[in-house]
Amino acid sequence: MPDRFEGKVVVITGAAGGIGRATAVRFASEGANILAVDLPNSVLDETVAAVQRAGGQIATYPADVTVASDVDRYVQSALDQFGQIDVFFNNAGIEGWVGPLLDYPEHEFDRVFAVNVKGVFLGLQAVGRAMRQAGGGAIINTASVAGLQATAAAYGASKSAVVGLTKSAATPSSTTTSESTPSAPVP
Ligand SMILES: NC(=O)c1ccc[n+]([C@@H]2O[C@H](COP(=O)([O-])OP(=O)(O)OC[C@H]3O[C@@H](n4cnc5c(N)ncnc54)[C@H](O)[C@@H]3O)[C@@H](O)[C@H]2O)c1
Repeated sequence: MPDRFEGKVVVITGAAGGIGRATAVRFASEGANILAVDLPNSVLDETVAAVQRAGGQIATYPADVTVASDVDRYVQSALDQFGQIDVFFNNAGIEGWVGPLLDYPEHEFDRVFAVNVKGVFLGLQAVGRAMRQAGGGAIINTASVAGLQATAAAYGASKSAVVGLTKSAATPSSTTTSESTPSAPVP
C-alpha cells in the first residue's frame, strides 16, 4: 500500500536509532513526510539518507525529549514546516545500567526515568495538545515486553510506566480540558 500515508506528517523521536530509523523509512515509503527528532549530538544522516532513498521528504530537529522547551520546539517545528502532525511515534528511550536492584545507582534510575517516562509524558502532552487543536491524530508510544516481565530495575519499571501512561492517554477524559472535567476518583 504505497500511498497509505500520502501527505501525512509523522514525527518520530529517537529517529537516529534502529527502530526510529526503520519506522521513518517505512512511513516514508508509504508517502509520509517525516520530522526526525533526536539528541543534538546524535547522527541523523543515516536516517535522512534512508528516507530519501525510500522517496520520502524528511526534516530533522535536534532535541532532548526530557526538556519541555525542546519538546515544544520540535512540535512547533513540525507545524511550521509541514502544517500538521498526523502521527507521533513517541519512541526515544534508553536501557540504562543493567544489574541487580540492590546495587542500582540512584542517578541511573533518575536518568532512565527522565528519558523513558518524562520524555514520553512531555511528548504526549505537547503533541496531544496540537492534535486536539487540529481535531485528531494517532500516537504510538514505544514500551517493551520488559514492562510486563521482570528485567533490569529501572528499564522494566520505566516501560511499565509507559504502558500506564498509554492507557491513561487513551481514556476520553485525557483530552478534555481540566476546567470542563472534574477529577475522577482514584481507585
Ligand atoms: N531494541 C530493542 O530490542 C527494543 C525492544 C523493546 C523496546 N525498545 C524500545 O524501542 C525504542 C527505540 O529503541 P532502539 O532499539 O531503536 O534504540 P537505539 O538506542 O538504537 O535508539 C534510541 C534513540 O533514542 C535517542 N535518545 C536517547 N535519549 C534521548 C533524549 N533524551 N532525547 C532524544 N533522543 C534520545 C538516542 O540518541 C537513540 O538514537 C526505545 O524506547 C527502546 O527502549 C527496544
